[in-house]
Amino acid sequence: MTDNKSQPLWHGRFSSGPAEELLAFTESLSFDKRLWKDDIAGSIAHVKGLGHTGILPQSEVAQIESALHQVAAEFLDGSFQFVDGEEDIHTSIERRVTQIAGPVGGKVHTGRSRNDQCVTALRLWTKRELAALAERLIALCEVLTQRADLAGWGTDGVYLPGYTHVQRAQPVLLAHHLMAHAWAFTRDIDRLIHTIKRADVSPLGAGALAGSSLPLDPDFTAREMGFADRFANSLDAVSDRDFVAEALFDLALIGTHLSRIGEEWVLWTSEEFGFATLDDRYATGSSMLPQKKNADIAELARGKAGRLIGNLTGLLTTLKGLPLAYNRDLQEDKEPLFDSYDQVSLAVGALTGMIQTATFNADRMRAAADVQSLSATDLAEYLVRKGTPFRQAHAIVGALVQEALSGSHSLQQLVATSPDFDADAQALIGAGVGVQLRSSPGAAGPHAADEQRARFTSVIASLRAALAI
Ligand code: ARG
Repeated sequence: MTDNKSQPLWHGRFSSGPAEELLAFTESLSFDKRLWKDDIAGSIAHVKGLGHTGILPQSEVAQIESALHQVAAEFLDGSFQFVDGEEDIHTSIERRVTQIAGPVGGKVHTGRSRNDQCVTALRLWTKRELAALAERLIALCEVLTQRADLAGWGTDGVYLPGYTHVQRAQPVLLAHHLMAHAWAFTRDIDRLIHTIKRADVSPLGAGALAGSSLPLDPDFTAREMGFADRFANSLDAVSDRDFVAEALFDLALIGTHLSRIGEEWVLWTSEEFGFATLDDRYATGSSMLPQKKNADIAELARGKAGRLIGNLTGLLTTLKGLPLAYNRDLQEDKEPLFDSYDQVSLAVGALTGMIQTATFNADRMRAAADVQSLSATDLAEYLVRKGTPFRQAHAIVGALVQEALSGSHSLQQLVATSPDFDADAQALIGAGVGVQLRSSPGAAGPHAADEQRARFTSVIASLRAALAI
């Protein structure tokens, strides 16, 4: 073993160092180094715990703690040096603490295993980062709300066709449409908050798998790190990655919601729809076709969902059938989590900017919604109000629509001459009328808007309160 190579933590019972291929294949430092802050927080709590229960004298606790603070400072100013052959961030930090503090540094790992150490750091990371993502989702909800408010909730609000099966169905307020996505994000934020709650349990003190013969105080260390609780079963503590699977599910579902916005904006910004125009800063061009302006953010928001679902599926497959307690397989928890987290964070930021800066083409939306066939349901409901059974009303209007499609007369003309309708039915067909008629609770028109808007404000306020922001 050369000087610039790190000796494995377990070197005592081995007669030679690890093979290059073993290190290359088994290392996690390349991706778990982003846990440095959380590992140091865990080590500080652990060392304080060792002092608290008298396992280490306070003088040694102070020495180790000060070395840990110095390591943190080195990470912050970029001077921390990794050494070849280090397996993970936990190894690197322990090595550096011992360099700084001398042999007393070798006491930092007393009563601890990397099995409880690594998952402690990952839980701390998950709690913090999911909360940060929840805040970014709130910011996205706010942009959707602002755009909805600008589009208008009143009788003069911008409206567009609502679709089922990508066929024009009934007119809806643009505000209502935008907020449909925002409601999905409120559920995502709520899910993140509950995932954070389940991640908020300290596994420190579980040791390798069975706890310790030393008088550890896992309640004390849990409190020191700001965990709400500590593990009850040491085997469970080191094997449980439910919080990672849940986080990956939350991220996959957020990604799925983003992908639906993505698909919609790919359509909306096409010449065929022409409902929205992207700001140049949030669109891309073509290397060959000079006229192109592409919605790459929207396409990638759609495309990334596959990878996010793959990350969830990958981790569940790793966990399936894994015997208790820690197995090295569990190291496979981090890359999918970091990848899904990074991709979703980037997608949320990019879509937020794209939506905030886009221009809605209200005239195109209105024109697409003001086709007479979109009043078909209102005409059927007119007949329902006069006592016609809905199924019969549906058939009567369906026949008129079919006749109108043949081109000789418009639906409005046919309604005017139909014996089933009185003159007042004409008013249902005019431009901009349909959206006003969507008036039942939660419906897409202006009459239901105030209630929805107020409910949304109070849901966001309670999510903010739960996140304490
Ligand atoms: N790097 C590992 C992980 O992230 C922790 C190491 C535990 N290794 C071990 N041989 N007990 O899961």
